[in-house]
Amino acid sequence: MKPFLLLRADDLEAQRPPGQVEDIHFTEDLVRAVVEEATRPGDLVLDPFAGYGTTLAVAGALGRRAVGIELLPEHAQVARERSGAEVIAGDARRLAPLLAEAGIGPVDLVLTSPPYLSDVDHRENPLTAYRTQDGDYRIYLQEIGEVFAQVATVLGRGGRAVVNVANVLTGGHVTSLAWDVGREVARSLDFQGETFLCWDRHPPGLAGDYLLWFRKA
Ligand SMILES: C[S@@+](CC[C@H](N)C(=O)[O-])C[C@H]1O[C@@H](n2cnc3c(N)ncnc32)[C@H](O)[C@@H]1O
Repeated sequence: MKPFLLLRADDLEAQRPPGQVEDIHFTEDLVRAVVEEATRPGDLVLDPFAGYGTTLAVAGALGRRAVGIELLPEHAQVARERSGAEVIAGDARRLAPLLAEAGIGPVDLVLTSPPYLSDVDHRENPLTAYRTQDGDYRIYLQEIGEVFAQVATVLGRGGRAVVNVANVLTGGHVTSLAWDVGREVARSLDFQGETFLCWDRHPPGLAGDYLLWFRKA
């Protein structure tokens, strides 16, 4: 794994699918670097928070098989059209049964960026795509941990999970989201190290931005 990656902030907006308004969290260059390092052609790549399908589109273009899970049907549709990949409209908190019902697995690489939460002043729940007002930092971390416990069961031997997560700035306050999510994921997968994401213009609201690398134990 590389110690750092140089990324262009302008790509975030330029690569957002036409007509969409929400932020994408990572760029095609980021996905290309991870997929090329962690997989071979024909391998299966999963993004359980598929968003607009950046992971799926780039993995497919590199000759990998790709599948996504996405809670919002409208995002799932955009991701499908953009990538041509199978995108299950469903809740990543039910990742293992969703993949089993679809007959998908074992997975070689999980590459994803979960929706973020600050530990202050944030009632919207990221794991309902901010559609409900029951956000709670402790429960959020627990549920992220449960998602990755299921990731561990669908990864094949030697499979890897790479999580894009940042520490979050709210005014002068920093939520140590990257460390907290990393600790939860490490309950189920072996932590291997991190790649620091060096943006040419740092995205607002983020402190350090990372790829955290894990391997199936
Ligand atoms: C950070 S975005 C992913 C961005 C994606 N990596 C990209 O660059 O296109 C997070 C996505 O997770 C989705 N999401 C939120 N809660 C979810 C859940 N419980 N299960 C599946 N998807 C969820 C949101 O709707 C959103 O599209």
